[in-house]
Amino acid sequence: MNDLKDKVAYITGGSKGIGFGIASILLKAGMKVAISSRLLENAEKAAKDLGPEDKVLAVSSDVSKLGDEQAAVKKILDKWGKLDVMVANAGVGHFAPVDQISDTLWHEMVNTNLNGVFHSLKASVEALKKSKGYYITVASLAGTNFFANGAGYNATKFGVVGFTQAAMLDLRPYDIKVSTIMPGSVATNFNGHEPSKGDAWKIQPEDIGELVLDLLKMNPRTLPSKIEVRPTRPDKK
Ligand SMILES: NC(=O)c1ccc[n+]([C@@H]2O[C@H](COP(=O)([O-])OP(=O)(O)OC[C@H]3O[C@@H](n4cnc5c(N)ncnc54)[C@H](OP(=O)(O)O)[C@@H]3O)[C@@H](O)[C@H]2O)c1
Repeated sequence: MNDLKDKVAYITGGSKGIGFGIASILLKAGMKVAISSRLLENAEKAAKDLGPEDKVLAVSSDVSKLGDEQAAVKKILDKWGKLDVMVANAGVGHFAPVDQISDTLWHEMVNTNLNGVFHSLKASVEALKKSKGYYITVASLAGTNFFANGAGYNATKFGVVGFTQAAMLDLRPYDIKVSTIMPGSVATNFNGHEPSKGDAWKIQPEDIGELVLDLLKMNPRTLPSKIEVRPTRPDKK
């Protein structure tokens, strides 16, 4: 996939944060990009900020619903005829002691973060077989480091890391590359956060975009399958 011009990417949860950052970098590299949100108006607003209609497609899809993801991929294939890169990025985080987390919030995390990445793969895998494409999940360092108040989020992100590694083994015979990116703190709206100047020490969303670009440009024979990425200098350390 060394020539990225006019390659087509679909990034779930591209209306803001890491997904938006990945979309902006892939567009600058000459790719066509579809972004999703649970609300079409959020995706459309972000798409307007990203670039022209022939290069950016806004779709509404709740990744917790397989049918939504299948409809989103169909829209992309109808518009551009192929799909080269699927980035399963959409995710939510709720943090509370395990005896206090509600089953509603637990299920929202499992349905979005874990079932969602499965739905995104299921909806895109036949197109990726045709294009010999790339499937990337955005997991987290929380997929390897557990912490107090993180039982639900940790469970989903440990799951995403295991899922992606097993999917890598299943899909490489089709020449589909599969990687999981495991970021530490990124300056986004995650968990209701408002990015500010105080977030300068954090990874910025476009840095994750640059990382995705590096993966896409990697020699076809080589696959970084699990990538941990963290702020160089954590806050106040
Ligand atoms: N920020 C961090 O420090 C950090 C660190 C490690 C990993 N991550 C992971 O990075 C990913 C992106 O998070 P972020 O930090 O960019 O958070 P964010 O700024 O809150 O963005 C989350 C994105 O996901 C979308 N989304 C949420 N639920 C969705 C659903 N059910 N279906 C479709 N889209 C959905 C949101 O769109 P709408 O609200 O418009 O629907 C939004 O575009 C998540 O998987 C998160 O776990 C974040």
